[in-house]
Amino acid sequence: MPKLSVSGLTKQFGDVRAVDGISFEAKDGEFITLLGPSGCGKSTTLFAIAGLDRPTGGRIQLDGRVFFDGSAGLFVPPEARNCGLVFQSYALWPHMTVADNVAFPLRVRGVKKKQIAAEVEKSLALVEMESYAQRYPHELSGGQQQRVALARTLVFRPSLLLLDEPLSNLDAKLRLRARGWLKQLQSQLNITTIFVTHDQTEALSLSDRIVVMDGGRIMQVGTPQEIYQDPATPFIADFIGGSNFLSGTVATVTGNVALVSLPDGQTLSVSASPELTPGRQVTVSVRPEEVHLVHESDPRPNLLHGRIVQREYLGPRYQYSVSIGDRLVRFETVENLGSVDATLAVSPESCTVFAFNGKH
Ligand SMILES: Nc1ncnc2c1ncn2[C@@H]1O[C@H](COP(=O)(O)OP(=O)(O)O)[C@@H](O)[C@H]1O
Ligand SMILES: [Mg+2]
Repeated sequence: MPKLSVSGLTKQFGDVRAVDGISFEAKDGEFITLLGPSGCGKSTTLFAIAGLDRPTGGRIQLDGRVFFDGSAGLFVPPEARNCGLVFQSYALWPHMTVADNVAFPLRVRGVKKKQIAAEVEKSLALVEMESYAQRYPHELSGGQQQRVALARTLVFRPSLLLLDEPLSNLDAKLRLRARGWLKQLQSQLNITTIFVTHDQTEALSLSDRIVVMDGGRIMQVGTPQEIYQDPATPFIADFIGGSNFLSGTVATVTGNVALVSLPDGQTLSVSASPELTPGRQVTVSVRPEEVHLVHESDPRPNLLHGRIVQREYLGPRYQYSVSIGDRLVRFETVENLGSVDATLAVSPESCTVFAFNGKH
């Protein structure tokens, strides 16, 4: 039995269908990330699981216990769910010390004083903040406040950890450190976690599985590797990791190779599949790191010729945009190049082909 099961969840705010019939499960101890652009319904989903907001329809079940069932009119209030929710804004009480902040959830649960002190100490030790117990929130950095917020949630041993963009307020370097630390803590405690973010690198590095959302719907569910290597739609190929897109028409299919002709007359060989029939409109996506600058007489298949029209300095390397027909194809190299003609090699295996008229 899954630890958490969400099925057919919907939430309507007036005319806005914030969540549109989504279903997913989390196994015990799993780290699941809801990933998608701002406004796609991530927080609404998380709040529905926590019970902070009543969904319009669907069903939510944790450890075999039904928390919400729209058709049965069943709604378990948040205090009876034992879910731990941590927000992007740490929401610590400014007039309470760190220790009192962390003790608060135990006080409202009527835990005895002596036990509270021990649990607070344990919880602060988990987040390596035990020496800050007597400080006030304003005497802490953002990263430290975030740890205290997490300690305040872990102290009551929630059955489920719900994190809504918890690292978004930290600066880039701290964010990276907090990421490593959070992942370590989560696997050490083996606590089932639903993490919400719009940041694809966070999702790729932290998750056991990613649920990609857009417009209140689930677009794909998979491991970070599955999502990155085999994106289900051009939107996902672009949103996660970034991709180059080339539109074309299938010209011929020979054995396991389909030849796609691009509007400017150049061609690309891609792996054939049953849907790639001659005449079919396709969008080919390829990651910038799979595009290589080569000599114009390189013997490899799939050479594309164009002109470098943009250069961006990234520190360790440059990213260039080459105009191919009406599209720009990005690639990266350590070489410092000007606005010159360039030949790019793209291996057929690195091409993901979407057989429909996408927006790209
Ligand atoms: N309380 C609310 N009232 C009206 N609309 C809301 C409310 N909360 C969220 N929405 C709308 O629902 C959609 C999803 O919001 P949200 O779940 O917060 O997105 P995300 O967390 O992915 O950025 C958005 O269009 C948002 O404007
Ligand atoms: Mg949100």
